[in-house]
Parts: sequence; C-alpha cells; structure tokens
Amino acid sequence: MKKVIKNGFIVTAADTYEGEILIENEKIVAIGSHLDADGAEVIDAKGCYVFPGGIDPHTHLEMPFGGTVSKDDFETGTIAAAFGGTTTVIDFCLTNKGEPLKNSIDTWHKKSKDKSVIDYSFHLMISEINDEVLGELPQVIDEEGITSFKVFMAYKHVFQADDETLFRTLISAKDLGALVMVHAENGDVIDYLTKKALEEGNTEPIYHALTRPPEVEGEATGRAAHLTGLANSQLYVVHVSCAQAVEQIAEARNKGFNVWGETCPQYLVLDKTYLEKPDFEGAKYVWSPPLRDKEHQEVLWNALKSGQLQTLGSDQCSFDFKGQKDLGMGDFTKIPNGGPIIEDRLPILFSEGVKKGRITLNQFVEITSTRIAKLFGLFPQKGTIAVGSDADIVIYDPNVERVISADTHHMAVDYNAFEGMKITGEPVSVLSRGEFVIRDKQFVGKLGSGKYLKRAKYGMRKGEEKEEIVSM
Ligand code: URP
Ligand code: ZN
Ligand code: ZN
Ligand code: ZN
Repeated sequence: MKKVIKNGFIVTAADTYEGEILIENEKIVAIGSHLDADGAEVIDAKGCYVFPGGIDPHTHLEMPFGGTVSKDDFETGTIAAAFGGTTTVIDFCLTNKGEPLKNSIDTWHKKSKDKSVIDYSFHLMISEINDEVLGELPQVIDEEGITSFKVFMAYKHVFQADDETLFRTLISAKDLGALVMVHAENGDVIDYLTKKALEEGNTEPIYHALTRPPEVEGEATGRAAHLTGLANSQLYVVHVSCAQAVEQIAEARNKGFNVWGETCPQYLVLDKTYLEKPDFEGAKYVWSPPLRDKEHQEVLWNALKSGQLQTLGSDQCSFDFKGQKDLGMGDFTKIPNGGPIIEDRLPILFSEGVKKGRITLNQFVEITSTRIAKLFGLFPQKGTIAVGSDADIVIYDPNVERVISADTHHMAVDYNAFEGMKITGEPVSVLSRGEFVIRDKQFVGKLGSGKYLKRAKYGMRKGEEKEEIVSM
C-alpha cells in the first residue's frame, strides 16, 4: 500500500525543507508539495524532522569474544537499533585462520537470517593472507557483496594480524575494490603493558585504560595510514577515541591519502574516570580503545565538525554486568570489551551535537547515514531521501526530553553505559523499505523482515553496477 509522509521537515546531508514523501513498493517514488497521493495512507510528521534511516557501520551482534558471546543478537540488537532510528547495520563477520572464509560468512548468515528486523550486511575480518584467502576474496566481493575487510592491529594472540597481513590486505583491497578497516592500537605494546600491570598486582578495571594509552592508538593509526599511502589504497579507522589518532588521520588526509575515520558516542560523552567507579562498576565502561581524559572529547567533536572524522558507529558489543563483565573480577584483562550503544547512537549525537550547536542538522545526517552509505557501497539505495532510494525513514521529534536508562532501553543487557543521561529528541516512527518497524514508539516490525544487502565496490554506486563513481 502507498504511504505519504506529510508536514515534516525533510533533512538530508545537503538540504532541509518542508515537503511530502510518497512511498510505494518499498521505495521513495516522489518528493514534493501537494503530491497526488490518492489512496495512500497519510503519516503526519508535524513538528518532526524526517531523516534517512541511520546506518550503523560497526556492530558485533552475537559475537564470541573474551570467553563469552555478546548478548544482543540480530533480534534484540536490530530491534533496539530501530528504536533509535537505525535502519541498516553492518556487522563484523569473524573468521578463523586456516578455515575457508565462506564458512564464517555462512555462520553469520545463519545468525542473522530469520532474526533481523532491519536490513543488514557484513564486513569480513582478515586475519591472514595466503593463496587460499587470496583465491576466495574475489568471490566474497562478487557473490556476497562484501566490500570491506577488517584487520585487527590489537588483541594479541586472539585477533591481531601482523603488518605484512595489513599491508597485503591493503594491496588486495585496492586491486579488488574494497575498503580496509582497522582496529588501530599497538597490540604488542599493550600485551607487554598488561602483563607488567598484572605482575605488579594491578588488576582493577582502570588498568584497562592505563595499559592502552592514547599513544598506542596514535602510533597504530599512523602506521596504518602510512601503509595505506604506500599501497595507494583506502583505509577506514574504526572507533577513533583520542587526539593522537585524529592527528594521524588528519595528516594522512592532508597528504591526499584515502583515509577515513569513525568515532563512537562513548568517546564523545564519557571519560576515563568512569573506569574508577567502585564495586567493579568500572567494568561496564571497558572498551578498546578505552575511554580517555575529558579533553579528548572536544578534539573528537571538532574533528566531526571539520570533517577530519566522517562517521559515527556504535561499536555495539554488549555484555551483561552480572555473569559476563564480572568474568574479569580480579583480572581486568578478562573483562569482555564492549558495551550496549546500538540504540542511542543517533539520539546522543542529536542531543549533544545538533542541540548543543556542535554540528549542523545536515552534518548529523551525513555522519550517521549518508557518508556511511557512500563509503560502504550502499548509496543511493540507502543513506538519503531521494526518488528511487529505499524508503528507510525516521520521523524524529526534536524536542521531547527523556533520560537514558536500562529500565526503558530495548537492548538485552542489564545496564546502560549512559544511565541517567538527559537527552533531547527521539524517533517517533521508523520505516524500513516503506514498512513501519517502530510506530508511535512501539515495535511493530517482523522478525526476519530485514534483507541481506550486497554492497557495491569501494567508490561505486549501489544499483547501477556499471562502474559509476560515487562522489564522496
Ligand atoms: O571494546 C570493544 N571495542 N569491543 C568490540 C570489539 C572491537 O574491538 O571493536
Ligand atoms: Zn575494535
Ligand atoms: Zn605520520
Ligand atoms: Zn568493534
């Protein structure tokens, strides 16, 4: 059935204007005023902004990690995402050395298929480069539409790859048309510092931050950026947390390298002192990279504003405090890293960013949706409000006030890292390909309605795979 959204302010990365949107067969078919919408269901967006659905480029749903599995899966995780205005997630598919990549991708398809309530895609982890892996990559791109590869420079003895692997991944990605993503921290130095801390009897959560200082993130970011320049390839640095990393990204961009950077809500609004909370509560705030001293927040905000950082991911990787985070009681290295954020990514950026004048409304859309679609081969199917695009739409009340709490969130875990935070603005209704997932703040979606998205190659437009270049 046709739908028409009326009376709202349409916001894209470029424009803000009053207009109507006509939706038919999952797509936006017309935009204008006084549209001929006979027989269409009318959705009144009075007093609201109408945004393209958020795209979360960084989630870890039901991911084995640190001797446990992240609690939100493709069901609870995507429902929570939808409540927060996200209509697409790109999740990290982990791979195992010596095993065909295809096996891992199949595992991820099984996890997601009948669960996701919004559209989704995968990035693929690369942990080794050899003839088998090189032989499989073209199929990964052409058949699975996976056009982004993730290399971990940290988590020694677990996920960490060496520099040769990173460099060869950069070269292959350039040849094949993929974007290389890095978790940039110097895993060898962290490994030494953590061993030393434990030997000295320093076991509390705060030592997680103290053994991963900003310099190790800055160093790894710079190394990855320099290797990208050498390979003439393309790089996306995930979860940038500090000034040292921003500086390296800016330096590389100033040289004309294709280096992009993502930050996350936690680094914009929380700081290192949270890890010192008593009764082991600091474990709730253990992320890698760790939360930083407060002065880094302003650097990150300014980098989003100036375009030195381009995107916001959630890095959703949630664990219960009781039964999961507490695996690290008495040894901070055993605290599963990560937190529940998939739901509040847009609302925090809107409230702290747009409402407080740090970024514009159009930048908000660019940072949470448009740029991500362009970088990851989804534009213009996703990431904008335009004729022909999927009708992934968020109707957003910019003035409602609420307090973030585990009592009211929709994620599966027993705490919220932003507990008690007052924010302004929240989604009222959310549509995925023209169907309501959230309607008047109630979940009305269907498990398994989300579609797997095959993505275009790096720098290309989704839809017309006639090698048409997307303007970043
Ligand atoms: O602490 C984090 N970031 N957990 C998720 C895994 C990762 O490194 O992104
Ligand atoms: Zn990471
Ligand atoms: Zn440098
Ligand atoms: Zn992550």
